[in-house]
Amino acid sequence: MDFCEQIAADIEKIETYLRGVFAALPPRGDIFPAMEYSLLAGGKRLRPVLTLACCRLCGGDAELALPLGCAVEMVHTYSLIHDDLPAMDNDDLRRGKPTNHKVYGEATAILAGDGLLTAAFGTIAGASGLSEGQRLAAVSALSAAAGPQGMVGGQVLDMDGEDRGLSRPEVEELQRLKTGALIGCAAHMGCIAARGDEKTTRAVAGYAEKLGLAFQVRDDILDVTSTTESLGKPIGSDAKQGKTTFVTLLGLEACQEWVEELSREACACLDGLENTAFLRELARTLIAREN
Ligand code: IPE
Ligand code: IPE
Ligand code: MG
Ligand code: MG
Ligand code: MG
Repeated sequence: MDFCEQIAADIEKIETYLRGVFAALPPRGDIFPAMEYSLLAGGKRLRPVLTLACCRLCGGDAELALPLGCAVEMVHTYSLIHDDLPAMDNDDLRRGKPTNHKVYGEATAILAGDGLLTAAFGTIAGASGLSEGQRLAAVSALSAAAGPQGMVGGQVLDMDGEDRGLSRPEVEELQRLKTGALIGCAAHMGCIAARGDEKTTRAVAGYAEKLGLAFQVRDDILDVTSTTESLGKPIGSDAKQGKTTFVTLLGLEACQEWVEELSREACACLDGLENTAFLRELARTLIAREN
């Protein structure tokens, strides 16, 4: 299978899995429709794709990694619902559709995020193909990456930095937490599912760190250069909220050069390993991603 076929097949598996998570549960008000409204709205599915790819790199069965990757995607989706709330970035469009709170109201949007966050941990606990030790490792990893030492911590720094010029080290720290932590966790989940050896797990961590940074630098670029149609979320959101981003610090051109350099550095972390073609291509596609 070439890269495009592999990623399409993986995304189909991910979509099918995510559609099934809440399907058999009895209805309760509009909470499940609200959760699924955002969860099943598309999105690139980068995080679970990364989980499956890193599992394969470690020689594991990607089917076993699917619940772990989808758990990260559930946490990521919750983070987007809350990120868009009026109290945070106050955005009206996400994944090409009106944001969760625009459709369901703020209270339900908050609860839909809470529901996705908690269900993510239930999904890991119920991953029957994995040992108890693997599930515990996955719960620990996701908890660290999503919480105040990870994504939530990054969002705190992001909000705290509004309308205040941040230094480059401050923005790097902020991004490492708000975006890098969950991307790193997604990659690590693949190693957990495959019981990856230490050398490969370390290489994957290095790759994911560079990839996560490249991903956020490109996100900051697209907020300035893209269109709402191609991005599926409003452009100019960062400027509107007075954020310091990599673009405000370095300018567009230097940012794009940096994305390319980071992508090369990510690939270099894989040198000496076998079966790295998919991850290398993934890093390359992110350089020019348009959404
Ligand atoms: C958006 O993430 C928020 C960031 C961390 C930059 P994605 O660009 O992965 O959003 P989706 O999942 O494709 O909607
Ligand atoms: C948000 O970063 C990262 C999250 C933890 C949700 P942004 O605020 O830059 O994400 P977008 O641009 O709204 O997707
Ligand atoms: Mg934000
Ligand atoms: Mg935002
Ligand atoms: Mg952004």
